[in-house]
Amino acid sequence: MRRIAICVAASSMALSLSACGALGVTGDSADASPTKGNDITVGLLLPEKANTRYDKFDHPIIAKKVTELTDKQGKVVYANADADASEQSRQMQKMISDQVDVILLDAVDSNAIASDVQKAKDAGIPVIAYDRLAEGPIDAYISFDNELVGEVQGRSLLEALGGDVDTSTKIVMMNGSPTDPNAKQFKAGALSELNGQLTIAKSFDTKDWKPENAQANMVEAINEIGVNNIAAVYSANDGMAGGIIKALEAAGVTELPPITGQDAELDAVQRIITGEQYMSVYKSYIEEAEAAAEMAVAKVQGKNLKFDSLTADRVDSPTDKDIPAQLVPVVALTAENIRETVINDGIYKLSEICTPKLKEECNAAGL
Ligand code: GAL
Repeated sequence: MRRIAICVAASSMALSLSACGALGVTGDSADASPTKGNDITVGLLLPEKANTRYDKFDHPIIAKKVTELTDKQGKVVYANADADASEQSRQMQKMISDQVDVILLDAVDSNAIASDVQKAKDAGIPVIAYDRLAEGPIDAYISFDNELVGEVQGRSLLEALGGDVDTSTKIVMMNGSPTDPNAKQFKAGALSELNGQLTIAKSFDTKDWKPENAQANMVEAINEIGVNNIAAVYSANDGMAGGIIKALEAAGVTELPPITGQDAELDAVQRIITGEQYMSVYKSYIEEAEAAAEMAVAKVQGKNLKFDSLTADRVDSPTDKDIPAQLVPVVALTAENIRETVINDGIYKLSEICTPKLKEECNAAGL
C-alpha cells in the first residue's frame, strides 16, 4: 500500500509536471467544489477518545491553523465518534446535510464509512482522509508513514533484546483494531523486522484499540505461554502498553520485559523514563494536523498548485488507486531523545513529564 511517487526523472519536464498533477489538470482538481473565499467550514471527524492525541492535539491544532489560513473567517466543526462506527456515520451524514465545505475524516472503520464518502462526493463535498486511509472516493490522504512506524517498533524491540535473540525467544504481539487500516500497516512493518528472528507465540488484533481489551488479551497470553517465557511484548500503541503492563504486574512480574508503543502519550513518556516501557513512536501531530488544515483550505479555495504541492506522494486504498497523499516521517522515542522530540516541539513541558515523583529518574535521564 505504501507507494511514494517521486515526481522526477520523466523524459520531459512537461510530462513530469503533469504526471505529478502539478499542472492542475488532474481529475480531482477539476472535481474541486466551487472556489470559495475565507468564509469556509471544515468538518472534522475524529475516531476515538481513549487515546488523548485526538482531543488534545489533532483537533486544536487543525482549528488554529484553519483560523490562521482564513484570516479568522473560517471555522472547524468537530465530532468525535468515541470508537463507534455507526455514530461516525451519523456524524458524517449530518455534516453532509449541513453542507460543510470539506471533510477531514479519520475513520473508525475505513470500510464501513465508504458509502458516506460516496454521499459526500455526490453532494460535491471533498473528503480528505486524515491519518487512516478511508475507503471510497476520497480526494486526498494525509498521514504518517505507517509501515515505517511498525518497522521502527520491530527494530527497537530487537535492539532491546540485544544479542539475546533466537527462534526460541518468545514474544507476544498486540496489534491494533482490525477496522483501522493503519493497524494492518503497523503490523506488516513490524513483521518485516521480526519474522524469522524470534517466535511470535501469540498475536492479537485488539478491538477498538482499547487498553482494557489489550489487558484481557495479555492475561490470555500469560496463561498460555507462562509469564516467565515471555521475553518481550510488541504493543502497537501506548494505551495498550498500559493495559499489558497491568496484566504482567497482576501476574507477579516485577522486572518488566521490553514493551513497545506509539503516540508519545504522557504516561508512556514517563514509563520510558522509569524503565517500565522501552520505547514509543513519536509522530509530529503538529506536522500532520497543520498539513491537513492546509490541504482542506487549499482544496476549498481551488488553489490547485498549492494542493498538489501538499500531496506529492501517491497511495492505493482497497477501492481507489493513485490517491494524492502526504506521508510524514516518524521517529523512535526512547529515554535518549525525549528532550529533542516532545519537549522541543512543545508537546509537553518538562514539568509535566518530570513531576516531583519522577525527580530521581528524570535526573538520571539528564532531564
Ligand atoms: C491509529 C493512529 C495512532 C493511534 C491509534 C490508536 O490509527 O495512527 O496514532 O491513535 O490509531 O488510537
